Amino acid sequence: MKKDFLKLNDLTKVEVLELLKQATELKQFKINGTSHKPLEGKTLGMIFNKNSTRTRISFEVGMFELGGHSLFLTPDQMQLGRGESIADSARVLSRYLDGILIRTFDFKEIEELAKHASIPVINGLTDLNHPIQIMSDLFTIQEKLGHLDDIKIAYVGDGNNVAYSWINAAAMFNLRLSVACPASCKPELPKEISIPDSIEITEDPITAVKDADVIYTDVWVSMGQEETNKKVSLLKPYQINQPLVDAAKAETLVMHCLPAHREMEITSEVLEGKHSVVFEQAENRLHLQKALLKKLLS
Ligand code: CP
Ligand code: NVA
Repeated sequence: MKKDFLKLNDLTKVEVLELLKQATELKQFKINGTSHKPLEGKTLGMIFNKNSTRTRISFEVGMFELGGHSLFLTPDQMQLGRGESIADSARVLSRYLDGILIRTFDFKEIEELAKHASIPVINGLTDLNHPIQIMSDLFTIQEKLGHLDDIKIAYVGDGNNVAYSWINAAAMFNLRLSVACPASCKPELPKEISIPDSIEITEDPITAVKDADVIYTDVWVSMGQEETNKKVSLLKPYQINQPLVDAAKAETLVMHCLPAHREMEITSEVLEGKHSVVFEQAENRLHLQKALLKKLLS
């Protein structure tokens, strides 16, 4: 029976913890130069309907390092871009490939693809969610703090796809999560879970970062959204800057899924400062995704 990864809840907490453990091992293999190729002869198709640096390259390199192969596909070069249905495309691709990674706009497109594919489908970001990012971020946090127990995450900024996946992760791991955003930028709440009291949505960034182990932000204008002066000016008080970092725990981690817009959602001073783990966070995408690929495609 094939297994998809469309949202965090497609895995159990035990399965996610197992992947974090596996990612630690795969990271060590890479550091030691140990060859590990469980995906020899396997091919991942990667459909990108939106731009990407980290997701595309880390999946492509990940497949290579695991002994497999990847194909970068864009709908405008496939018949998908000329009206062939997602259902038919899924059935055809399933006869060539061993897995599909897809980044697109509407989450329903991914569900449709997964429904008709007989091979695993992995969500590489939609307008709704970005589960692979957050699973990888849990790996970084566990690596940095040594555990995931009773930690507080402050997500400050636009209530977007990344915020949505944080809400899912906080519910799964019983994390304290405070999302600070303007009233008009509040995140959609996942329907697939009940939202525990440990998750709060506030308009006050200082309240959100109080006692936070992690301060997290993302771009103010996501791919596919229109940038307006109104949205940018509403979000200005939610910038991650030094005074905001100083209001959190002394050892707080600063995270950003990247790409960053310096002096917008985060200052350069903070991005380059001692609390920031953003580049290790980006690196860890590779290790965690290799663990997921190994689980789903082996
Ligand atoms: N964080 C992230 O998904 O980056 P890319 O858009 O570069 O893939
Ligand atoms: N929220 C951002 C994340 C980019 C990785 C976007 O969807 O553009």
